[in-house]
Amino acid sequence: MKFFVDTGDITEIRDMAATGLLDGVTTNPSLIAKAGKPFLPLIEEICGVVSGPVSAEVASTDFETMLKEGEKIAKIAKNVAVKVPLTEAGLKVCKILSDRGTMVNVTLCFSAVQAILAAKAGATFVSPFVGRLDDIGQDGMALIADIRQIYDNYPDFKTEILAASIRHPQHVLMAAKYGADVATMPASTIKALYKHPLTDKGLSAFVDDWKKTGQSIL
Ligand code: E4P
Repeated sequence: MKFFVDTGDITEIRDMAATGLLDGVTTNPSLIAKAGKPFLPLIEEICGVVSGPVSAEVASTDFETMLKEGEKIAKIAKNVAVKVPLTEAGLKVCKILSDRGTMVNVTLCFSAVQAILAAKAGATFVSPFVGRLDDIGQDGMALIADIRQIYDNYPDFKTEILAASIRHPQHVLMAAKYGADVATMPASTIKALYKHPLTDKGLSAFVDDWKKTGQSIL
């Protein structure tokens, strides 16, 4: 299972990359606004820090402008993935860019039938937003399970399921159980994955007992 960090904060990205466990980055216009830096140079910088896919989203909603934006984003680096919304225009752009060999992440997926369309359009990734479905009282993780089942029925679908809008470790656990290929999450959620109270308690006891031996390994 791949882990992407969902942020436009270059310091967080460097920090996460240093763990050796980071496989890619996702951004969106809200995260770029939060980062407060010029978009194109920021994406270029991120692409230099992380060798895996870096998703950068188009800003327009009409086909012509979206395609031009996607073409411009695609030129930033080899590891950039153009992010397009799951709309008719977005999937038209997805098909064109995917046919040219550009990675495309189809975002804002909220139903399994939308995910079928993304796969048919040749998306590299489809991003079902589990947390936002939970927010409106639906079961976001059921969507991951549905998409996995459907994609597995059709070996010609090569699209990876990128579980997005992940809010806590339980989401990561369920995404892994249901077979999501990737989970993207904030750095705080990745850090939370390390944590267990029994790890802290056990380590504290080992440290104390080791001191009693009066020994040093080095
Ligand atoms: C993914 O690509 C999105 O940027 C992200 O996961 C959205 O998460 P949110 O619903 O917490 O904003």
